[in-house]
Amino acid sequence: MGMSLTGSFDAVSSFYDPLSRLVFGKALIRSQTCFLNLVPQYAHVLIIGGGTGWIIEELLSKKPSVFITYVEASVKMLEKSKERFSNSPFKDQITFILGTHLTIREEEKYQVVITNFFLDLFQQATLPSIMNPIYKALDKDGLWFFSDFSLRSKRTYSFLHKILVRIMYLFFGAFCKIEGNQLPNFDKAFQDFDLKEVAGLYFYTDLVQAKVFIKK
Ligand SMILES: C[S@@+](CC[C@H](N)C(=O)[O-])C[C@H]1O[C@@H](n2cnc3c(N)ncnc32)[C@H](O)[C@@H]1O
Repeated sequence: MGMSLTGSFDAVSSFYDPLSRLVFGKALIRSQTCFLNLVPQYAHVLIIGGGTGWIIEELLSKKPSVFITYVEASVKMLEKSKERFSNSPFKDQITFILGTHLTIREEEKYQVVITNFFLDLFQQATLPSIMNPIYKALDKDGLWFFSDFSLRSKRTYSFLHKILVRIMYLFFGAFCKIEGNQLPNFDKAFQDFDLKEVAGLYFYTDLVQAKVFIKK
């Protein structure tokens, strides 16, 4: 079900982090960590499509009191994430779930949800149905952390950005059979929900964006 929608990242789990680091340096890491200080203490945080789980370490190093639900569709990505915490004192604060956006239970509410380089896997038309369960799981006044690619640059880099994004879709289309084949208009997708942008930053000559929204 969810798996066929999103393909599988099992095939790339062993080299996803080093490859993204090679191409983007620290930009993808910075875009995911720059606003983590806005996460409230003791918050219940839902991370969906978090990959190998390095973001959990970053979050806990800044906010050691949070509770994390980590929903990942890839068995291998989830295994890697779990391994990091097998002997950690934070172990009991993290719930690892093999699942998708459809696994999220409506009655569970989170003060923070995090979708990083996740919404780009889908086509524009599918995004509302992917985002809706995540939005519903977010408390009123809760924060939605989002980072992803952006094609907003209109200057020198615009052409290079388009090529790089095209290559990424070809690559992840071939290896992971993702549904998406071009970068969705994320601004448009977020407008469907009652969310207000409260923070935003761009990295890597504007190719990478990080935003935080609050649920009204
Ligand atoms: C492009 S990777 C990004 C990983 C991580 N956020 C990062 O930036 O390093 C997307 C991740 O989303 C996971 N994924 C794909 N579809 C999913 C779904 N419907 N629910 C949860 N995770 C999903 C994949 O297994 C993969 O680990």
